[in-house]
Amino acid sequence: MPSVDLTGPSRIRTDRLVVRRFAPDDGEGLHGYLSRPEAVRFEPYDVQTRAQCDELAAARAHDPSFWAVCLQDDGTLVGNLYLHHDEPRAWRGHSLGYVFHPDHWHRGYATEACRALLDVCFDQWGAHRVTAHCDPRNEASWRLLERLGLRREGHFRQSASFSTDDAGRPLWHDAYLYAVLDSEWRPAND
Ligand SMILES: CC(C)(COP(=O)(O)OP(=O)(O)OC[C@H]1O[C@@H](n2cnc3c(N)ncnc32)[C@H](O)[C@@H]1OP(=O)(O)O)[C@@H](O)C(=O)NCCC(=O)NCCS
Repeated sequence: MPSVDLTGPSRIRTDRLVVRRFAPDDGEGLHGYLSRPEAVRFEPYDVQTRAQCDELAAARAHDPSFWAVCLQDDGTLVGNLYLHHDEPRAWRGHSLGYVFHPDHWHRGYATEACRALLDVCFDQWGAHRVTAHCDPRNEASWRLLERLGLRREGHFRQSASFSTDDAGRPLWHDAYLYAVLDSEWRPAND
């Protein structure tokens, strides 16, 4: 079985982007998009303050699941990826997530960054299966997953709740499950 080394590489270059580990001083860049309601609408958290973003940057600098996505030209932080090695680790499953700066949507950056990280995940870390969940109302998200070659495998009814109504009752929402296998990734992305 291929070994899974989540410690490297620490930096991936694509045509237009650098996908790298977070640094403790990325708080300002994070705040650029995590302060935008449209960026966090489907996230399990609300808009973040500058102080919260500084804390997040410090935490993400030590969390190998988070990746900062920057423009090659000037280093601007345009978004982040999340790729978590799931338990049990021997099954070699990984969960994908992403949030990009609304000012940089519709340019193909999310597709380019995800494709590069999944190349590394399958080819270097020996992943077997990569999955992603998204709210069915989040069309930009599931369109991205389908562009990458993930397949819709499930539609879970009222499977998550990130907020409550005025009476404190959970507001439920559905989730799609998407996935791609190692045997499917390479041919689709050659
Ligand atoms: C999900 C999200 C990352 C998708 O962003 P996006 O801008 O649609 O995705 P990309 O950066 O890959 O851009 C693709 C779009 O740019 C277009 N595009 C323009 N130039 C392009 C280029 N050079 N290369 C590729 N695509 C290009 C594509 O045609 C595509 O448009 P379409 O969806 O209308 O067909 C973004 O909506 C987001 O951050 N949302 C908030 C966070 C969120 O909801 N996360 C998911 C939680 S499950």
